[in-house]
Amino acid sequence: MNVYDSDKVSALLLCSGMSKVEELDDADVVVLNTCHVREKAKHKVYTELGYLRERKEARFAEGKPFIIAVGGCVAQAEGAKMLERAPFVDIVFGPHTYNELPNMIRSVRKPTDDGDHVALETAHLEIFFKNKRPRLLNIGFSSEDKYKSLPFLNVEKKSAYLAIQEGCDKFCTYCVVPHTRGREVSRDAQAIIQEAKSMAASGVCEITLLGQNVNSYRYEDVSEKWLFADLIRAVCEIDGIKRVFYTSSHPVDVTLDLIKAHAELPQLMPFWHLPVQSGSTNVLRAMNRHYSVDDYKRTVDNIRKYNPDIAMCSDFIVGFPGEDDEAFEQTLELVRYVNYAQAFSFKYSPRPNTVACDLPDQVDDSVKAERLARLQSLLREQQTQFNTNCIGQTLSVLFQKHGKCSNQVLGKSQFMQSVVLHTPNPEMYMNSIRNVFITGATLSCLEGRIVN
Ligand code: 5AD
Ligand code: SF4
Repeated sequence: MNVYDSDKVSALLLCSGMSKVEELDDADVVVLNTCHVREKAKHKVYTELGYLRERKEARFAEGKPFIIAVGGCVAQAEGAKMLERAPFVDIVFGPHTYNELPNMIRSVRKPTDDGDHVALETAHLEIFFKNKRPRLLNIGFSSEDKYKSLPFLNVEKKSAYLAIQEGCDKFCTYCVVPHTRGREVSRDAQAIIQEAKSMAASGVCEITLLGQNVNSYRYEDVSEKWLFADLIRAVCEIDGIKRVFYTSSHPVDVTLDLIKAHAELPQLMPFWHLPVQSGSTNVLRAMNRHYSVDDYKRTVDNIRKYNPDIAMCSDFIVGFPGEDDEAFEQTLELVRYVNYAQAFSFKYSPRPNTVACDLPDQVDDSVKAERLARLQSLLREQQTQFNTNCIGQTLSVLFQKHGKCSNQVLGKSQFMQSVVLHTPNPEMYMNSIRNVFITGATLSCLEGRIVN
């Protein structure tokens, strides 16, 4: 979602007449997009800001401007605190107001004697002044469909993200997202399909549908009702769309229709990111996940019944308050049961205003670290095994990147694996989907040769 947001911010600024520079030293404006999901991500923001402060001072000494805008969920959560703690930051804006960024930047560009020319049409904006310079705080939750005003830039990419829903109503007890991204809102289905069509018309062949709880997508108006699987079917039907992924799904919102859609639609890729978080039903209850370990296993079994070759992927949190040795062992058991192709795993990180940070039995960091290492070692084994099993198979690969060496081109398989091809002519394969016979595999990469 953050990559998508950053791309949109870039597109907005380009449309407003700015251009991208290669070197930070040449920038008049810097935009930081930020993530608040774990404490570490927040620390990184302030570390980065410390560095940008030095750049700003150096640029000012040369009489050059340097506007610093901080957006995203850390900005949303910190708000005025960020303006206070980092007095050299000019603009703090949340994930709901980034479509107003070009105007905000215009407004802080010139010093002013009064705030009159800061005429931004938004109810949420607060203006602070430092040395007669306006500093903006814009962290409201707009009821407007911000996506309507966001441009899609034809940048000759073959794959694109498409946000279909934002926010979350699930309120997992560890998670800050409902507090920063707000309540769950599904976009108008026809607007999404139109956007997908214009992406296809500009050459995009792979779309990743995005939402915090993408499969709880639901859109209704007077004449029609859309659930997630309906939307997927419509996107897969669009001429030119050859591959569809989505992320991230919630186990309680998995429907039989969605499972069947995977079996029926060749465009819907056989990769399912279905975060479980923990293999202990007690921990899941404390997390407010609304399913038991058995429920999750049944869902995975059902997915595999219809889609035997699907690659399963998950997120895990270790060291959630109250997770004892037995609960952690149950997580390892579940991992052995499911056999994941990929996974993301984290130490529990207490987040402000969430229920879990006040729960008793918080787990020591050293225990979290030890559990994370054990879990990751098992997950790495499974991922390596999944990749190794691909040797001798022919996979469909969309090539889009140059490799480290000039004779390499990099792509992504239908199972989301990185695939490298060695060829004297990488350009020949760039931006195309090819059948690749897999000859080698490691934890993080496959290699192979083209099958005609
Ligand atoms: N601590 C650790 N991991 C977290 N996640 C969300 N909140 C936290 C937290 N407080 C993880 C979950 C989620 C992923 C995006 O980030 O596993 O699925
Ligand atoms: Fe956070 Fe849970 Fe919502 Fe995912 S489902 S965004 S983990 S609250």
